[in-house]
Amino acid sequence: MIQRRDFLRNTLLGAGALLASRCAPFAAAFDTADSGNRIEVLPDEPLGTISANIYGHFTENLSGVVYDGMWVGENSKIPNIHGVRKELVDEMRKIKPSVVRFPGGCFADSYDWRDGVGPTDKRPRRTNFWEDEESPSAPASHRYDPNQFGTNEFVRFCKLIGSEPYLAANVRSLPAEEFYRWIEYCNSPTGSTTLADMRAAAGFADPFNVRYWGVGNESWGCGGNFTPQEYAVEFRRWTTWVPRFHQDLAFIASGPNVDDWNWTRGFLEEVLKKGRGQLRSIYGMALHHYAWNLSRGATQDWVKGKGDALKFDPVDWYELLREGDRMEGLITGHWQIMGELDHEHRIKLVVDEWGPWYRPGGEATPTNQLEQIPTLRDAVFSGMTLDIFNRHPEKVAMANCAQLINCLNSLYLAHEDKFCVTPVGHVFAMYADHQNGQSLRTIFSAPEVTYDRDGKPARFWGLKGSASLHDRQLVLSVVNPDVSAARETEIVVRGASIQSGSATTLTHSDIHAHNSFEQRNVVTPQTKPVEGKGRALTYTFPPASVSKLALTLG
Ligand code: AHR
Repeated sequence: MIQRRDFLRNTLLGAGALLASRCAPFAAAFDTADSGNRIEVLPDEPLGTISANIYGHFTENLSGVVYDGMWVGENSKIPNIHGVRKELVDEMRKIKPSVVRFPGGCFADSYDWRDGVGPTDKRPRRTNFWEDEESPSAPASHRYDPNQFGTNEFVRFCKLIGSEPYLAANVRSLPAEEFYRWIEYCNSPTGSTTLADMRAAAGFADPFNVRYWGVGNESWGCGGNFTPQEYAVEFRRWTTWVPRFHQDLAFIASGPNVDDWNWTRGFLEEVLKKGRGQLRSIYGMALHHYAWNLSRGATQDWVKGKGDALKFDPVDWYELLREGDRMEGLITGHWQIMGELDHEHRIKLVVDEWGPWYRPGGEATPTNQLEQIPTLRDAVFSGMTLDIFNRHPEKVAMANCAQLINCLNSLYLAHEDKFCVTPVGHVFAMYADHQNGQSLRTIFSAPEVTYDRDGKPARFWGLKGSASLHDRQLVLSVVNPDVSAARETEIVVRGASIQSGSATTLTHSDIHAHNSFEQRNVVTPQTKPVEGKGRALTYTFPPASVSKLALTLG
């Protein structure tokens, strides 16, 4: 049986129906206006401020993500800004992207940052970490990194979209010295160091002031196959001294794979052997969780357990959501262990890779490895996941959807001059209003969804979401996971009256619906005013939907 952990290790070593019940438009599918659906928002019970960084992204130099997806080159006929695809920049500006992680993923631990700086025509070509898995017809730039998109280009991309860079350093194959040299290159003032002057010579006189630094990636697997104890020793060594240039640097340790509690505990115990002061050097612990196993318990095999991105039944829909819903238990479980060792909870969780992962075959561009076409199912999954993060603002400091474009849970798909926003991209646009809001405890009461899971009745929650307050503006996001039943729901804001509001909903009559280069607007959010004022309002959440209610409170 192959597990993901083994897959990633092997990669490294191997060096490398349409739903019968959903045929009708959703308005006609309101067959069960359930009673007993109620949402109560509690403004007097704030949970903490929702970090804007929960709405972060991940761009790995992996197949079509950078070359073709983000970077088209300055001489391209495709509209671009300094080589970056203009349509991507324009779309991203709409979603308030807080932070972007680069250059990996597994790629990070084979990347030498020095290859990606200096005159572009002098930069070397290197074998990409993912080369072995590329199809023979994949473009050369996917197999052999041309290094045209390096640190300068990435930071400029971040500035263009109004985002902060988060760089992941190579712990597996570079010495610690290169970590602090990279920081020096990025953050030292022009005129102070040779590397600062090299940056300035490339046209970047102002320091990049990069704050977020990942110390390796998946160090339990492709990032070095360390034990948690071994990695802790490396982490301490790497972070013992780096130049700070008056920056509040935030070091993110490679954290657990899913429910590897032993990693969290083992890492922290080992770090603490040198005293409690060591905790000050850790801003966050990265947690990775992909929803990939749709086998309903039949296998743990990383290849056999996966489902299809586009062809699925209702049971696969619920199975994906169940897998993704594990995120909440992972957050609370790792948080509890962290608290046993870090009593003041100085260290936060950074969920810097999350999303569904399907088997190959669902690519928009067949040569793009790990590309899948996100459907309405992935939009609902993404809304559910962002709601989980919103409900734990004191624990989750950052999260990065894997990945931004042309890979896994993409917000965008692009190839040559073709581009589209996926349903996942629309969810990010809808949820952007939660950023920096005060997360409020909210009680969701709704009968569970019941469905057939291999001849046995199975259940999934009926309605869930999150709420945030910004002065008198309340943002309430709600997921209805039921593939066929709408939920007529009473919404109450305790101790406040609702003055006015609007509802934006993303859904479709077909749970497989998705956008494509040819049909870009199959799944798009619709906004309308909400009716009902005063202490309560009633809203009907369509089946298979993500909704955002923006309400002005009196
Ligand atoms: O996102 C794809 C890969 O998944 C990343 O490179 C790695 O960190 C994870 O296993």
